Amino acid sequence: MPTCTQQQWDLLAPVWHNFEQAGTNADHLCRFAAELQSPAVVLGSGLGPLTKAIQECGIMSVIGADWSPEMARFARIRRGVSTVVASAELLPFADGSLQSVVCATGVINPQDSTGTAALINEVCRVATPGSSVVMTFFVPSIEMLCVYSALGLMTHGRQHSGRIVEL
Ligand SMILES: C[S@@+](CC[C@H](N)C(=O)[O-])C[C@H]1O[C@@H](n2cnc3c(N)ncnc32)[C@H](O)[C@@H]1O
Repeated sequence: MPTCTQQQWDLLAPVWHNFEQAGTNADHLCRFAAELQSPAVVLGSGLGPLTKAIQECGIMSVIGADWSPEMARFARIRRGVSTVVASAELLPFADGSLQSVVCATGVINPQDSTGTAALINEVCRVATPGSSVVMTFFVPSIEMLCVYSALGLMTHGRQHSGRIVEL
């Protein structure tokens, strides 16, 4: 999945319901349901499918964190979940205050090692030694890589994040 900036995710928010099942979805998350405890957070919560799925697993104290105000707003409207506008690298939670942290697809950018390190440090800060942490990554198929390349979103396996809003 091409990486977008905060502003680009804001622009995508009104149409994102067409794509929200593309990465880690509720069915995938169900495999980890037994590991999750309250309080929980979903990083990069988008329109809230994972936040809602965790709630439906019986974990009532769950909040979605997304750096896009529009994504956070639509998640509240569409799914009635609690959200906070925040970057995954700078979370508004106290040290060791969360029992479960789920990082949605599209938040970790493997091509940005500095950002990834900052995110992992932040997850370690808000989690406790006994917390469950679920990190998800988008691994495109060969077919998707071909499509991305044909659309000019990638060259030689590298993404061009600036192109996404031009589509
Ligand atoms: C693919 S979507 C979320 C996946 C979810 N299944 C969905 O489609 O609603 C990725 C979300 O992560 C958010 N995001 C990406 N990087 C982020 C970061 N560093 N901090 C907070 N949110 C981030 C984006 O704004 C976007 O809403």
